[in-house]
Amino acid sequence: MTPNIATPSPALQPATQLTLVDALVEQGWYVGREVIDLELCAALNQELLHRAAYNGLDEAGIGRGQQHLLRKDIRGDAIHWLDRESAAQRRYLDAMSELQQALNHALFLGLFEYEAHFAHYPPGAFYQRHLDSFRGRANRVISTVGYLTPNWPSDGGGEMVIYHPDAPSQEVARVIPEAGTFACFLSETIPHEVLPTRHPRTSIAGWFRRNASLGGVLDPAR
Ligand code: OGA
Ligand code: MN
Repeated sequence: MTPNIATPSPALQPATQLTLVDALVEQGWYVGREVIDLELCAALNQELLHRAAYNGLDEAGIGRGQQHLLRKDIRGDAIHWLDRESAAQRRYLDAMSELQQALNHALFLGLFEYEAHFAHYPPGAFYQRHLDSFRGRANRVISTVGYLTPNWPSDGGGEMVIYHPDAPSQEVARVIPEAGTFACFLSETIPHEVLPTRHPRTSIAGWFRRNASLGGVLDPAR
């Protein structure tokens, strides 16, 4: 008899890549529930909540380099960039690297790098409507958000609203930030926002990047 050896469950549901590529091509965005393995979400969530409790996060700003500004009236989350320091981070980043290959294979996007940070939104925090690619630095091509909070309460707020790329006041989707949900969209064209949350909200926001060289200066990550 063959011994029953448990194979580890994949970090992302196997059918996700195909559905995701189709949705990106057709509408510029994708949202899937029960996509990220729940044990992985729990491990990542624990790591992030530990950082939130022990001063291990930085207040998030807007812009980068010398233009970096703290603006609580625009975004209120606190972040930590993933650096592969835990097994859970490595598993998540490896899944993103597989997704990057699938996207390059299907869409010839030439994505070459992925950067991602944990995000913790305390009650009252939000992120006003925005695009993810920096002006004049269109190097973030595809955005991803993985949600980590289990049992999101129905009155918890904190939904991510996705707007129509050609009619930025028209709402096309509202994403409940429940553990296991994964969202993906075109960074340069899809406006989105995080509504004020009433419950501590945990996620990983990440970006597939293409190299963008401006005036001979290589655009730095972050
Ligand atoms: C971001 C962002 C959305 C979310 O970090 O740029 O838009 O739902 N996050 O956390
Ligand atoms: Mn964003």
